[in-house]
Amino acid sequence: MTIRAVVTGVGHYLPARVVENAEFEKTLDTSDEWIRTRTGIERRHFAEEGETTSMMGTAAAKAALADAGVDASEIDAVIVATSTPDLTFPSVATMIQKELGMSCGFAFDVQAVCAGFIYALSNANAQIVSGQVKKVLVIGAETFSRIMDWTDRSTCVLFGDGAGALVLEAQEGKGTPEDRGILSVDLNSDGNYKDMLYVDGGVSTTGTAGKLRMQGNALFRQAVQKLASTAETAIGKAGLTTQDIDWIVPHQANIRIIEGTAKRLGHAMDQVVVTVQDHGNTSAASIPLAMSVGKERGQIKTGDICVAEAIGGGLAWGAIVIRW
Ligand SMILES: CC(C)(COP(=O)(O)OP(=O)(O)OC[C@H]1O[C@@H](n2cnc3c(N)ncnc32)[C@H](O)[C@@H]1OP(=O)(O)O)[C@@H](O)C(=O)NCCC(=O)NCCS
Repeated sequence: MTIRAVVTGVGHYLPARVVENAEFEKTLDTSDEWIRTRTGIERRHFAEEGETTSMMGTAAAKAALADAGVDASEIDAVIVATSTPDLTFPSVATMIQKELGMSCGFAFDVQAVCAGFIYALSNANAQIVSGQVKKVLVIGAETFSRIMDWTDRSTCVLFGDGAGALVLEAQEGKGTPEDRGILSVDLNSDGNYKDMLYVDGGVSTTGTAGKLRMQGNALFRQAVQKLASTAETAIGKAGLTTQDIDWIVPHQANIRIIEGTAKRLGHAMDQVVVTVQDHGNTSAASIPLAMSVGKERGQIKTGDICVAEAIGGGLAWGAIVIRW
């Protein structure tokens, strides 16, 4: 008998404030046309003043619990992927645990920037298959608008805020790719790429949160190659081929990266869940947001095989294969 971590619920939350590309034309030397053609982004959501990562994560978690038909009291662990926590500590996960009315289980944050949700899912999967827990909430939640340099047109037009969540439950499987649940994981990082994408502040350096800095063009070149490679590795580890994949659920950073990766994997764009036009890059929230929206649209259905892949600061990157 094999234990599998099966997705039983998914949900998301987006802040009410929608900012169209044209808004940036008022303060920056940029255009809706440049942003659309170079990134695929048309609009993004920004949190209101006082609206925090834990608030958005809590809303997404509640939606995922409702979708799963699971009460918060049944959850053994809450894992949050974020690089934009409310406070340096305690973790966003413990704040969400409180908001959900939980007084049991355990909760912690994972920080792997835009790859954070893949890392968090990997951790949840390991805890489920080892028998440590049975039901886990995995949340990606970010307020990247708080670490933008609004004078830097090459970064501030790219990012957005939001949250997405999955409920994972232990279920028995046969140990074959026919099982529902997480079938394989591939994680990678290389600290030599630190300067390509980082935030120029922190607790032990400046004592401030800092602003995001990025060498976009250099990162772009790394992204397609590394994303296709990690996706292929994860698919192979699952005992599958790229032909078996029903849906690519990519990190939503740039439509050209998404298209380039899909092409390398031999997939047409009608097998890719794309939300970047409406959300921008929401970092660790981007994959669970895409999963939730993809399910809502009727794209991802029970039994479909999905590969999710992401890359972010570190660099850290990875992929996960899930039979939905
Ligand atoms: C950021 C990104 C969209 C820029 O696109 P690009 O085609 O690489 O563009 P470049 O960086 O080469 O810049 C080209 C020109 O556009 C300009 N430009 C940058 N942002 C602009 C904007 N918002 N509006 C207008 N012009 C802009 C640059 O200043 C540059 O001008 P120059 O040639 O006069 O110096 C692209 O590199 C990218 O998406 N990179 C990966 C980002 C990413 O995925 N990050 C997160 C990973 S988790």
